[in-house]
Amino acid sequence: MYKKGIYKILANEPLTAAVRRMVLAGDTQWIVRPGQFVDIALEGRYLRRPISVCDCDERTITLIYKIVGDGTAQLARMAPGGELDLLTGLGNGFDTSVASRRPLLVGGGVGVPPLYNLAKRLLAEGKTVEVVLGFNTAEEVFYAEEFRALGCGVTVATADGSCGTKGFVTDALAGLEFDYFYACGPLPMLRALCDATGDVAGQVSLEERMGCGFGACMGCTCSTKNGPKRICKEGPVFAKAEVEW
Ligand SMILES: Cc1cc2nc3c(=O)[nH]c(=O)nc-3n(C[C@H](O)[C@H](O)[C@H](O)COP(=O)(O)OP(=O)(O)OC[C@H]3O[C@@H](n4cnc5c(N)ncnc54)[C@H](O)[C@@H]3O)c2cc1C
Ligand code: FES
Repeated sequence: MYKKGIYKILANEPLTAAVRRMVLAGDTQWIVRPGQFVDIALEGRYLRRPISVCDCDERTITLIYKIVGDGTAQLARMAPGGELDLLTGLGNGFDTSVASRRPLLVGGGVGVPPLYNLAKRLLAEGKTVEVVLGFNTAEEVFYAEEFRALGCGVTVATADGSCGTKGFVTDALAGLEFDYFYACGPLPMLRALCDATGDVAGQVSLEERMGCGFGACMGCTCSTKNGPKRICKEGPVFAKAEVEW
């Protein structure tokens, strides 16, 4: 179930040179699972921009986005007090009802944000949560402290070794105990992670360019082992066993 609404910008601040955190006030009742996304209308642009929900409470939604093109640059120019038209409650989100005591959360770049709300949910369910966050370099790292403050074990991996483990998220898995995993990030990272975790099951959040964002246009369809699926509706989260690479 999704809903259109108008949201007031409370904050829109830099976390790194290219990454911003935006806090919006408005109706959050349609956001029911971590890993769901919102679709943001921007003045003068035909297509909405999908962004994952990083955090939410009864009144506010937190989004973290990277400036990669004209739409996200326009978003970054918006000041507190301004308003945005959002579709909320989109996508299936992560399923935390699976049998797991020690889940591992793995995020790469702007794949990190949806894992924050997921970590909160898993901790509230009494699980022991380990997080691996992957970035290119130390200047790009964000939210490591926020995950630690929640009570997660946190390992940072950077490709150039300027912060934490040198290498990719898969290089940081040695020594970590986990019986299930949840991941969001670039496709090559997700694929390498699925290989590296062997028999351990998990869920991955996929990305695709979107038209409508709510299942009507079929523009985001991908093929899975269970047939074609719309990433915006049946996804963005899929079981590891279902993904066709
Ligand atoms: C389910 C989902 C969740 C996402 N969550 C986040 C998030 O939490 N933080 C974040 O920084 N980014 C996230 N993205 C990626 C984000 O949607 C794009 O970076 C953004 O739409 C780029 O818009 P633009 O106008 O700046 O770029 P442009 O390249 O100018 O965009 C042109 C068109 O391509 C689409 N597009 C471009 N890149 C992507 C992409 N990677 N994925 C999907 N559509 C794209 C745009 O929406 C737009 O319609 C998510 C994407 C999806 C599908
Ligand atoms: S974007 Fe239209 S069906 Fe997914």
